[in-house]
Amino acid sequence: MLLAFADEHALAQALARELRCELRLVGEHRFPDGEIKLTLPAALPPRVVVLRGLQHPNDRLVELLLLAKTARTLGAQRLTLVSPYLAYMRQDIAFRPGEAISQRIVAGFLGELFERVLTIDPHLHRIASMDEVMPGSRSVAITAAPLLGRWIAAQWPAATPPLLVGPDEEAAQWVRAAGEATGLEGVVCRKTRHGDRDVDVELPAGSITGREVVIIDDVASTGHTLLQAARALRDRGAASIDVAVVHALFGGDAIDRLRHGGVRRVWSTDAVPHASNVVSVAPLLARAIADCA
Ligand code: R5P
Repeated sequence: MLLAFADEHALAQALARELRCELRLVGEHRFPDGEIKLTLPAALPPRVVVLRGLQHPNDRLVELLLLAKTARTLGAQRLTLVSPYLAYMRQDIAFRPGEAISQRIVAGFLGELFERVLTIDPHLHRIASMDEVMPGSRSVAITAAPLLGRWIAAQWPAATPPLLVGPDEEAAQWVRAAGEATGLEGVVCRKTRHGDRDVDVELPAGSITGREVVIIDDVASTGHTLLQAARALRDRGAASIDVAVVHALFGGDAIDRLRHGGVRRVWSTDAVPHASNVVSVAPLLARAIADCA
């Protein structure tokens, strides 16, 4: 059985179709003071997959606590969490004494609730693999970059492919994976982050003039990383600038600012529901669930 929430219904339906399993929605009531009440199916099979992306993570972590503990009392013995976007992965060290290392704490919390946690392109910066974050082979991370790469490649004639641009050093892995799947060439920028909404992005040397480019990244949140990359590309004479991300968080007016900053099209996977979704991760997730759940 696949358990999901109404606000992720589209991906849940696609996933249930791929898995050929029953989909049930979790009922949710918000009390006036913000507390959450969940209602699960009254009886659960031994093996249950839970779909819950961790965009807007704070409430959703409470949902998962309530859900997993309740599911155990209703018959579930093996719980797999499919969290296409896994939050709290960026704070992986204490930059200053006293800071919480959120990545380890949140991963540990989920590891205690679920036998397996499956995610897509988690933001691992100073960490080599999810196994370091959630030891004991309890987590599986898959990449959607080849899917995005194939989508991008299909938008251009084979004779005039676009150039992939990673906006920061961590994006090198997505540029590489998308390039390996399609043959598209790519370059990677250097980013300096000064604050939540304050980044500098520096393009590498080499000619961009007249090139059609696609900036590819794992996650867009405020959109400032993409915006600064787009500015740098525009200044260097790019003929067109499109954007493709795995996780379209896009808070506030991020999309409008990107359009004003010269970005022509914004594409994303449906790992996070968003108007820019063009590629479904459901088949990818279904294969990974079949392998590990
Ligand atoms: C971090 O390096 C990530 O890969 C993204 O580039 C970053 O999280 C995007 O955040 P924002 O959209 O707020 O610049």
